[in-house]
Amino acid sequence: MSKHLTIVDHPLVQHKLTLMRDKTTSTNSFRQLLREISLLLAYEVTRELPLTTSKIETPLEEMDAPLLEGKKLALISILRAGNGLLDGILELIPAARVGFVGLYRDEKTLQPVQYYFKVPDNLGDRMVIAVDPMLATGNSSAAAVDLLKNAGATNIRFLCLLAAPEGVARMKEAHPDVPIVTAALDSHLNEKGYIVPGLGDAGDRMFGTK
Ligand code: URA
Repeated sequence: MSKHLTIVDHPLVQHKLTLMRDKTTSTNSFRQLLREISLLLAYEVTRELPLTTSKIETPLEEMDAPLLEGKKLALISILRAGNGLLDGILELIPAARVGFVGLYRDEKTLQPVQYYFKVPDNLGDRMVIAVDPMLATGNSSAAAVDLLKNAGATNIRFLCLLAAPEGVARMKEAHPDVPIVTAALDSHLNEKGYIVPGLGDAGDRMFGTK
């Protein structure tokens, strides 16, 4: 993927995103929309998965048909909101390996603190897709990618639903080799580190917490 930032401007993605932003959207609908939108985003972020060919026979004749090549890709959910994206993508790519990075944001410093890390083996041989709905300051995302690189990953993509310019810049500075795929690039971060106009706290909206 040559571009550092890809905005998926497909009408279905944009329509669903608007419904998700709306504060009157219920937890149930929010979750369902996130699942649907993650399928569409997964389609874009996996565009460069390598293919090989395999000889098969259709009912009419033999052919060399395309199949995914190499080791299964690794999906890494950045907890907890990453799980919402993960569920949808797994519907599309059920054979993917899955890992989790637990980072929480210290609300005073806005810096990430790690509390969990478990990833598939042979990360260096896999396409790795890190997922987190909100790329806000970029601090947690950059820290998560640091951890994945330390674990051997060399071919990483970052998938989110919304990005702030601050987060994109932070990622570009820390990890220029990691392409970002998102549904929208919003205006800015507020003083609490929330994306504006955004959709609020993705985890809270997804799980119905406050
Ligand atoms: N995390 C969220 O859930 N929402 C934001 O706006 C920023 C970070």
